Amino acid sequence: SKMEYGPIPSSKFDEVIQHLRHNFPDEPLNASVGLCVHGKPCELLEHHDLLTLQDGLSVMALDKATGEIAGVALNGIARRGDVEKALEDMKSIDNIKYKRIFGLLNNVNKTIDLFSKYNVDKIFELRILSVDSRFRGKGLAKELFLRSELIAEEHGFKLVKVDATSLFTQKVAECLGFIVEKSVKYGDYKDENGQKIYDTKSPHDYYKVMIKLVSSKQNVG
Ligand code: ACO
Repeated sequence: SKMEYGPIPSSKFDEVIQHLRHNFPDEPLNASVGLCVHGKPCELLEHHDLLTLQDGLSVMALDKATGEIAGVALNGIARRGDVEKALEDMKSIDNIKYKRIFGLLNNVNKTIDLFSKYNVDKIFELRILSVDSRFRGKGLAKELFLRSELIAEEHGFKLVKVDATSLFTQKVAECLGFIVEKSVKYGDYKDENGQKIYDTKSPHDYYKVMIKLVSSKQNVG
């Protein structure tokens, strides 16, 4: 393989943020509302990314030839009440683009109480999946996903969740045995004038919350 995979040490956080600045604006919701622009800082999202990196569960793919970051999966811990708190905190944020994206994710997650349904106190969340545009379509996302699942297992999580906003993420998750917990169609969300709020590009027509129960015997909840 031309890639080397491993955990993301804090010495790499800046490089991860640089990678995301160049590549994550392609994420379908981001692209549709224009929250982040290629190559430019994106403060609110980067704050969220850094908090997730600090959970110490993230994984990266490095190009062996250059040592450059080719892709990342930023994984974090979700706890009961987080979504409600995020919705409360959003009231004091006036960035409408940020609110459109995180309003959708948080509101959909609020309607599915996975903590009660699966009787868990914490959920392993695959939050940000990003592959450098020069390395896409080669299975890196699938490998990052698989390794994230192994990290979840090692840390004793019972449940892994992904907010799959891209059809490509949904394909990877499905292939790894994830099931759809909730599916919403972007085109169904309209503003007061009947205009689409999330005019995502084809083939990204749905946002799906997908989950998988970790198959480990050493589960501790
Ligand atoms: N056209 C059609 N199918 C594609 C394409 C494409 N351009 N790219 C990937 N796919 C399909 C693959 O065929 C594969 O499906 P299959 O298993 O049925 O063959 C699946 O998507 C995954 O392919 P990978 O090669 O593993 O994915 P890749 O390494 O290219 O990374 C990713 C996919 C991360 C979505 C990348 O396109 C990217 O970084 N996009 C911008 C950011 C983004 O959208 N991230 C995901 C948002 S959801 C989240 O973050 C939790």
